[in-house]
Amino acid sequence: MSDTGFQRASSLLRRHTQDTTRPGEFTLLGRDWDLMDGVFSPTYTPVTDLFTSWLPFPDGGSFLEIGSGAGVTAVVAAQSGCARVTALDISPAAVENTRRNVVRHKVEDRVRVLESDLFDALPPEDRYDLVYWNSNFAEPPADFVNETDLHHAFFDPGYDAHRRFLKEAPGRLTPEGSLLLGFSSIGNVALLRRLAADAGLEPSMLRSEQRQLDRTVIEFQLWRLAAA
Ligand SMILES: C[S@@+](CC[C@H](N)C(=O)[O-])C[C@H]1O[C@@H](n2cnc3c(N)ncnc32)[C@H](O)[C@@H]1O
Repeated sequence: MSDTGFQRASSLLRRHTQDTTRPGEFTLLGRDWDLMDGVFSPTYTPVTDLFTSWLPFPDGGSFLEIGSGAGVTAVVAAQSGCARVTALDISPAAVENTRRNVVRHKVEDRVRVLESDLFDALPPEDRYDLVYWNSNFAEPPADFVNETDLHHAFFDPGYDAHRRFLKEAPGRLTPEGSLLLGFSSIGNVALLRRLAADAGLEPSMLRSEQRQLDRTVIEFQLWRLAAA
């Protein structure tokens, strides 16, 4: 487990809850967005910007985003040619925030937003050309509990959600579909590799970029997970 990763995610969570000047709107990727209290902010780290810019959105195809947060990636997917987008989040505030930005950007004809713990709320027959999660990659100490909905944006105790994601996601892909995970060097990459192997998946790095944030260099990583 990386203490640095846990500490860094803890300080990012504190920034979310203690920043009294946090605006209700932000600009990213050339667009304006609503931002609600209690929702992961794409303004404090470059993660949303980088991954959304790197994703190979399937033109005319279907895209499933787990953990849509404020809804930036789901909206950009719809504006980038995806014919059918489903955005899920475990946090009711994130679901509402995604819905607001879907309406703000007038893509409600092709974006469905659902409250869901990973794939639970999906109809059993749903399959997608691209399944993606910018995950809560910080691994907290043993016995840590996510006390609020916002905690889920940062911490995955025991990597239980990652374990389930890796097991269940392949069953949600079309025959040529791709499974991508947005992760970073502050996550537990060794554990991710073990869980992927347990699920019969082989991770390969699609793209990465290092950024210096405060005094820490963090590598943001977009992983492809394909059958081993
Ligand atoms: C790092 S944030 C990313 C938010 C957004 N996709 C972005 O890039 O700005 C992770 C998101 O995953 C959501 N999440 C965490 N665990 C989840 C689960 N089990 N099922 C669905 N969403 C989950 C969180 O609520 C949070 O919105």
